[in-house]
Amino acid sequence: MKRLLALAAAAFISLPLAPAIALDAQPGAPGAGDPYFPDQGNGGYDAGHYDLTLDYDPSSNRLAGVARISARATQALSRFDLDLVSTLTVRSVTLNGRPAAFSQSGSELVITSALHPGRDFSVEVRYDGRPTHVVDPDGSRDGWIRTSDGVFNANEPQGAMTWYPGNHHMSDKATYRFSVTVPSTRVAVANGDLVSKASKGDRTTYVWDSREPMASYLATVSIGKFQLTDTRVGGYRVITAVDPKLADGAKDFAERHAPVLDYFSSLFGPYPFSSTGGIADHAPEVGYALEAQSRPVYPRVPSESLLAHELAHQWFGDSVTPALWRDIWLNEGFATYAQWLWSDKQGTSTVQSSFDNAYARAADDEFWQTPPADPGGPAGLFHDPVYDRGAMTLHVLRRTVGDDAFFRILRTWASDHKYGNADTAAFIALSERVSGKQLDSLFDAWLFKPGKPSL
Ligand code: TRP
Ligand code: ZN
Repeated sequence: MKRLLALAAAAFISLPLAPAIALDAQPGAPGAGDPYFPDQGNGGYDAGHYDLTLDYDPSSNRLAGVARISARATQALSRFDLDLVSTLTVRSVTLNGRPAAFSQSGSELVITSALHPGRDFSVEVRYDGRPTHVVDPDGSRDGWIRTSDGVFNANEPQGAMTWYPGNHHMSDKATYRFSVTVPSTRVAVANGDLVSKASKGDRTTYVWDSREPMASYLATVSIGKFQLTDTRVGGYRVITAVDPKLADGAKDFAERHAPVLDYFSSLFGPYPFSSTGGIADHAPEVGYALEAQSRPVYPRVPSESLLAHELAHQWFGDSVTPALWRDIWLNEGFATYAQWLWSDKQGTSTVQSSFDNAYARAADDEFWQTPPADPGGPAGLFHDPVYDRGAMTLHVLRRTVGDDAFFRILRTWASDHKYGNADTAAFIALSERVSGKQLDSLFDAWLFKPGKPSL
């Protein structure tokens, strides 16, 4: 009903746009072409910047948003899509400042356009509603997850469409600015640098700037009764938000970042973002943490190992991002291997014993049936083989090429693809180039073939 009304209104106001457009103008594709999530992302344009102005009331769960997106057409576009769940109602859309026709269907917001290839454009979407999380193919929740005092906001793999319109596939990275207004009893934390905080009446607006390109599954706007700290520790700007319910356990949360980041910088190259830190929420109903860019989200005080995992993702996953979900081992295998490195550095257990432990699974264990570079579908993204067999792959690579070549491979990977996307084939090619070795059979056995590889 609402949708029909919006369509009727939009059809009327779009008349002035009747365009002089190339004859070959086509609708942009409704998906980015990822077989795991065919509707995710869109074709025909490239997003460059998101300016999100959000107003949220935790008690009613009411969100009102204005999303201003700068993008560039990559084809002649008669219309294009943004991803946004239809539980949020779009009130108006403008394209380059003029009203544009639109409709909402499923999780696609379809916008009528007349754009030439190469044309820069800006689209503004006003929307509101009561956001809810989505349930993923593996049964876990992501997106706008309400807590007792606000929102635990983690968006991998598909939660971003639950709270703002965008090109929600990892292959289209963009910079962000968030301006979030909440009751002054709450704090709103997002990615990047806190640039201002201003109160008016009983509401406070937090503005965050995320200047390095980011995939939308790594964006977060988390809200709660947080203690917010913004400090310099060991050369890093560390911004933390801690739920007071976590109390003493979180005392040294900010201080724990620098030693881990220093160690990883020495192995992987410079930390890629202008600030760091994390959001330690009290969300016992959420079973995972997420490596939100520059500011991971934790459902509790992280253990040393979990902290290391999420901070390693800043290089592997956040700065260098896969181009397809199938390649998720490039995130999870690397972050797991980094956990092993940090445990070794701390004297907890050697990398070799972590490897041995993982490898000790019996040959007929189900675990060995899933090759990490093809976890079978979206339900397998966050299963053990992606993490542990992915990490084992790196360890076998290291033993084959030697420490020197191995860490040169990791550093080159991080620098060659900084702020970009890369795939498994590129990692294999890089490993062979740096080591000068033929590594097909190693990667075949460890990444692509089911069954327990022999050593
Ligand atoms: N990427 C997260 C990590 O390993 C884990 C994660 C994100 C996850 N979304 C999930 C795990 C959904 C299970 C279900 O740090
Ligand atoms: Zn991870």
